[in-house]
Amino acid sequence: MSHRVTLLYGDGIGPEVIDAAVRVIEATGVDITWEAVDAGQVALQKVGVPLPPPVLDSIRRNRVALKGPMMTPIAEGFPSINVALRKELGLYANLRPTKSLPGVPAPARDVDVVVVRENTESLYAGIEHTVSRGVVESVKVITEEASTRIARFAFEYARREGRRKVTAIHKANIMKLSDGLFLDCARRIAREYPEVAYEEKLVDSACMQLVLSPHLFDVLLLENLYGDIVSDLCAGLVGGLGVVPGANLGDEYAVFEAVHGTAPDIAGRNLANPVAAILSGALMLAHLGEPAASRRVVDAVRHVIQSMWTKDLGGTATTAEMRDAIIAQVSALRAPKGE
Ligand code: NAI
Repeated sequence: MSHRVTLLYGDGIGPEVIDAAVRVIEATGVDITWEAVDAGQVALQKVGVPLPPPVLDSIRRNRVALKGPMMTPIAEGFPSINVALRKELGLYANLRPTKSLPGVPAPARDVDVVVVRENTESLYAGIEHTVSRGVVESVKVITEEASTRIARFAFEYARREGRRKVTAIHKANIMKLSDGLFLDCARRIAREYPEVAYEEKLVDSACMQLVLSPHLFDVLLLENLYGDIVSDLCAGLVGGLGVVPGANLGDEYAVFEAVHGTAPDIAGRNLANPVAAILSGALMLAHLGEPAASRRVVDAVRHVIQSMWTKDLGGTATTAEMRDAIIAQVSALRAPKGE
């Protein structure tokens, strides 16, 4: 079967790691026509806006995109393109499966947690104002609709993937109304899935327990800000941002992207770890209905990373060397025609 996928190379290390992901995916033999569109810094230079309409048009047409990271100016400038994409396309669920890879130096072993982050509201609703000189407010928006939707997503995912437990992470002792509503929705949905265990943990205590005993956790259900922070913590447990994939999913569209950002400190130097982008590509292949190709990419990464590391993992391999080794392994694993 052939597929059309929108491709956004992104900023910083984006072009390097997305190029690697595309080439690895192509090595699986799956028939994909890529529709590359300009967004982020490239679009800003060419047409004066970072998220021009053709980007959204293309994703709406193809329904699936592979995306590199995009820079967001700090405390000034244009709003986040990433947040805008998620809102415009109704990508309400951010899925970040975080799994230890064999041989990778990391603080914990055999970690297998899946972060399910609400992607559209909380403090990321972008509602900020100055109350008076020296006093500003950021509004945390939590709605029953979005909280119910993300809770259902987490439990559906747990059921489909045979996961044993969902942990809702919150700070409802302080934010009684907003996090309280989030928990109410999670509890209500949990009752519909008796085969999946449900528990609740305060976000601060959950962070400590994740570091000390990550094996206690399975699927994590979080509102937007906690999800953003806790997913980087989970990435740290398995070796860092260079190895954790992600997906932004809605009812109609799916945008696959690594957890990491543009890594300006190493951009353009052939140093970036392409594994996170490549594994995001594997998630995309599964979503496209190509589970065998997806597995082959994951298996190839798990094989190569036992003996080859980029600088972030303490090794000396370049982005291109890592990419080529994974491509060679995907080709070696590629089953004869007619599989
Ligand atoms: P970052 O993830 O870009 O970098 C944090 C640290 O991790 C840096 O030392 C970087 O070199 C390292 N790192 C990240 N990915 C790596 C990889 N694949 N291989 C090796 N090392 C890697 O986070 P930071 O510095 O907070 O953000 C930089 C920019 O990225 C900001 O403009 C931010 O807004 C943007 N960003 C975009 C995201 C997206 O498009 N989804 C997500 C996160 C940040």
